[in-house]
Amino acid sequence: MHRGKGMKFVGDSRIQDRSERNTIPKDYSEYPGRTEAFWPNFLLKEWLVGAVFLIGFLCLVAAAPSPLETQADPNNSAYIPLPDWYFLFLYEQLKFEYAAGDYVIIGTVGIPGLAFGALLLAPFLDRGPGRRPSKRPIATGMMLIGVIATIWLTYESVAAVDWDERAEYSVENAVEHEVDESHPGYETFVNNCMSCHGGNLEGEPGLGPDLLDLPHTAEVLQEIAVEGIGDMPPGMFDGTDEELEQLADFIIENTSTE
Ligand code: HEC
Repeated sequence: MHRGKGMKFVGDSRIQDRSERNTIPKDYSEYPGRTEAFWPNFLLKEWLVGAVFLIGFLCLVAAAPSPLETQADPNNSAYIPLPDWYFLFLYEQLKFEYAAGDYVIIGTVGIPGLAFGALLLAPFLDRGPGRRPSKRPIATGMMLIGVIATIWLTYESVAAVDWDERAEYSVENAVEHEVDESHPGYETFVNNCMSCHGGNLEGEPGLGPDLLDLPHTAEVLQEIAVEGIGDMPPGMFDGTDEELEQLADFIIENTSTE
């Protein structure tokens, strides 16, 4: 007699019913017509389901890309990295006094370690047979606290960010504008104004606005360059009158985005 003769591997995804823990499970031969061969029948079905799910998921993400941080503009040194939305809750808890600074190890290792460690240990700590959430108050309570904390921290983090300003960092939103670098005023602009207004008048987030489509006359521009305006400090321009005229002319010649 061959070993394993007449033996069939069957797939079974039922969860053991612990109330009959001491009874020996019935043999599958007692369910005639309800068993199927593991190979190839069961496995083929599993593969099919898996493939359909994967392809569906692929179509979904291709059709609706997830809202991730936009690609950073490499020309922008003012860029402050921010985690994608699904990690914002971890990022947010680092803002608490006792999870940052000297205590940052608590925020980076301690709290996440506790949370994920508890998840790992959950099956060992909580061995109750009940499957209703109401019968497992500790596990249910911990999970609820975890979910609520995650949602709340994510919300707080999202609310604290100036998304309009961040959008300016994106390459996609980078203004496609090129100035005439052969203009005699270009060099003066580079030396005095580029650090805040960008090499192509596109602005630098957090430092200075773009200088595109400005309505100002040459006189006004010269005045702003020397005396500043609003948050722009005076004395940014440093040079001769001729350079100042060329600078104003450079901006007027290149300000139009049309
Ligand atoms: C230290 C950064 C900084 C430098 C350098 C700088 N600017 Fe500015 N500039 C600003 C800021 C900030 C504003 C916005 C002021 C406001 O509206 O409060 C501004 C505004 C302006 C405006 C007005 C824009 C508008 O929409 O009306 C002009 C024009 C301008 N700058 C020209 C220049 C020129 C020309 C130079 C070079 C001589 C220069 N800036 C250098 C920071 C700077």
